[in-house]
Amino acid sequence: MNFELYLKENIPSIKSFHPYFNDAIKLMLDAGGKHFRAKLLLGVVESLNKDKLKDAYAIAFAIEMMHTYSLIHDDLPSFDNADFRRGIPTIHKKYDEVSAVLVGDGLNTEAFLHIANSNFDDSTKVKLVKELSYNAGFNGMVIGQALDCYFEKQKLDIKELEFIHIHKTGRLIAASLKMGAILSGLDEKECEKYYEIGLKLGLIFQINDDILDATKDDTELGKPSNNDTFKNSYTNLLGVDKAIKYKKDMIDELYKLLSCIDEKVAENIKKLIEKYL
Ligand code: IPE
Ligand code: IPE
Ligand code: MG
Ligand code: MG
Ligand code: MG
Repeated sequence: MNFELYLKENIPSIKSFHPYFNDAIKLMLDAGGKHFRAKLLLGVVESLNKDKLKDAYAIAFAIEMMHTYSLIHDDLPSFDNADFRRGIPTIHKKYDEVSAVLVGDGLNTEAFLHIANSNFDDSTKVKLVKELSYNAGFNGMVIGQALDCYFEKQKLDIKELEFIHIHKTGRLIAASLKMGAILSGLDEKECEKYYEIGLKLGLIFQINDDILDATKDDTELGKPSNNDTFKNSYTNLLGVDKAIKYKKDMIDELYKLLSCIDEKVAENIKKLIEKYL
């Protein structure tokens, strides 16, 4: 079974008399997305501890649930106000805002239930919970999103923007690589290397997302393009050409760091960079 199939078969479905809540839960998970974070985690485990790959699907899914929750909330009218995502109407558009907020809340908590129910030993599970909660929570994605929204109409400098991007996007991507390293039984120092690589990769990922917003159309993206016009983004701060050059230079720096980790893991990360960045 591959990860996409695992995900489809494990979409939460709740017994209740709500007329459409299960459809609202399913909507964004079923619509796919790139599964970039899941692919990072699974790439590490497949390279370093293949026997655990099947069990790692549950953990990769936990990260994808966390990520999908962040997008569902990101699209709400009080955040970025986006009507579609992954090529289909957003939950608050198709159903209502209450459902979008609650599906997001539910995915956030369900992620930890998935880790708790997984086939890893308790001490590994605690490490995974710590990584996911730290990097998705107040110290990670949450503060990044808070700053992104608060300073939406005030121009920040490049260092401040980098702080936002590292938090709102970088930390969850870094957690994906580090959680893969934890599942593969690497020691703390080695896990930290994966985390540092992930932070850089995550920053590049968000710079690329800024570039896509400025250079692609709605259909290509499956989400509204030109949605960052008034936001702090790398393209607004540097201009498109300089942002693209900045991204390329950062990828070169990242490739140097990749030479310090396992060759197979590095190859997988390079493949993902070539495909998505
Ligand atoms: C979009 O993430 C939001 C960012 C953090 C840039 P993705 O580009 O990974 O979105 P999906 O999961 O493929 O839809
Ligand atoms: C969102 O960044 C990052 C999150 C943590 C959700 P964006 O607002 O740029 O993501 P998109 O462009 O809507 O996918
Ligand atoms: Mg946003
Ligand atoms: Mg957005
Ligand atoms: Mg964006």
